[in-house]
Amino acid sequence: MRVLVMQDVSEAGLAELEGHELVRGSDPAGFDAAVCYLVDRIDESFLATPGLRAVATVSVGLDHIDLAAADRHTIPIAYTPDVLTEATADLTFALLLAAARRLGEAERHVRAGRWTEWSFDLLLGTDVFGKTLAVIGAGRIGKAVARRAEGFSMNVVMAGRDRAQLEHALSVADFVAVTVPLSDETRHLIGAPELALMKPGAILVNSSRGPVVDEHALAEALRSGHLGGAGLDVFEREPQVDPLLLECENAVLVPHIGSATRETREGMARLACRGLAQILTGERPPNLANPEVWDRWAARWSA
Ligand code: GLV
Repeated sequence: MRVLVMQDVSEAGLAELEGHELVRGSDPAGFDAAVCYLVDRIDESFLATPGLRAVATVSVGLDHIDLAAADRHTIPIAYTPDVLTEATADLTFALLLAAARRLGEAERHVRAGRWTEWSFDLLLGTDVFGKTLAVIGAGRIGKAVARRAEGFSMNVVMAGRDRAQLEHALSVADFVAVTVPLSDETRHLIGAPELALMKPGAILVNSSRGPVVDEHALAEALRSGHLGGAGLDVFEREPQVDPLLLECENAVLVPHIGSATRETREGMARLACRGLAQILTGERPPNLANPEVWDRWAARWSA
């Protein structure tokens, strides 16, 4: 079958699709299936492409895919849960530590040649050990972040979208890690009012999706000194970053690299492509984002 490959995918990933015709591009017309990434918009018109029967995304996040349209057009979506949980939790914790100990500023200090002598109060940060961490989003990645926090004897408070739980978690935490997926319900889940609930000097880390946090409000909270710092892997309009945020020395900013280890990206590519290959042979893969379409799909394409 003809498979549209929308971004660079590792050879090992593509090897899972051996026997199919693989074409790099962006227009789904004339294809049976597509492999996409989180930067590709898989919308109604994409999913309505005549003959298109399956999509695989090399991501765990699904906010770039119109799942309701996938349901309407009976398109199964293979995705990459689990395989990136630990790498993303590592990066989340790395950002927490980096923001607590001001590693971005410290590195810029050395590179700019400003380090002229040791001094008692140079770049003082804040302790992590024994502090309180609120994890907003108790899914796979949130739980993996919580496991890491146990190693630092942190007191962990988990919260979801329940308002009272969220407000409590924000108000008691020294660190807040945001790990909820982006949806209509979680867009700007952390805005100015929620940031105001955080303790003075607290640190916010976001490794989920940029629009879950109001980036401008966050920049204001950092600039005003209300928050002590932030660690961000994701942004509202990637690859653009709010100019005010770029000016905040106390924000550690990295370019959406949560799952970016060689092993994890390789695992993601294999899992997504294997899932697609399974669908194309009529076998239900274990990593379907919308398993509810499967029986309809099987009835249509096995006829
Ligand atoms: C990364 O952000 C992913 O959704 O896989």
